[in-house]
Amino acid sequence: MAETVSTPIQNPSRRDFIYIATGAAGAVGAGLYAWPLIDQMNPAADTKALSTTELDLSSVEKGQQIIVKWQGKPVFVRYRTQKEIDEARAVDISTLRDPQTDEQRLLPDLDGKLKPEYLIMIGICTHLGCVPIGDGAGSYDGWFCPCHGSHYDSAGRIRKGPAPKNLYLPPYQYLTDTLVKIG
Ligand code: FES
Repeated sequence: MAETVSTPIQNPSRRDFIYIATGAAGAVGAGLYAWPLIDQMNPAADTKALSTTELDLSSVEKGQQIIVKWQGKPVFVRYRTQKEIDEARAVDISTLRDPQTDEQRLLPDLDGKLKPEYLIMIGICTHLGCVPIGDGAGSYDGWFCPCHGSHYDSAGRIRKGPAPKNLYLPPYQYLTDTLVKIG
């Protein structure tokens, strides 16, 4: 099951280090900013090729974002507040660079229903691949990429800045009411 670790990214590459440094600066500015990471895979060397990982959504608290590592990529799992959902749904999608409704940003559960509170996205900016800052960052109560200033809204849709596309969704499916398989 999930293992929570204290650093955002383990064994960071140089780019990761730049990101961590950026995040640390943001942490000072935000005071209590913290970004918990759940490392779902924690793979042995011979199992690094595993293509799926499971996540228990009950481990995420309302208003919190966790990051799950999937195939070496960060996956954002945010338990959205009603305010965030309402803001995402109030947007006229004809004004968006990459038009998608909030519903199109979600995949259905076993009963075919959407769980709008859980937003699951690949946490890589669609501009040049930095990892955006979350927890309501940016001008649209969503995510902000500090590398070149892309703002994503509370549905992970690009709203301002150079990124061409919304944050991508990973393939995932609900295995139970709270268990999700990514990949
Ligand atoms: S990589 Fe995110 S704005 Fe350029």
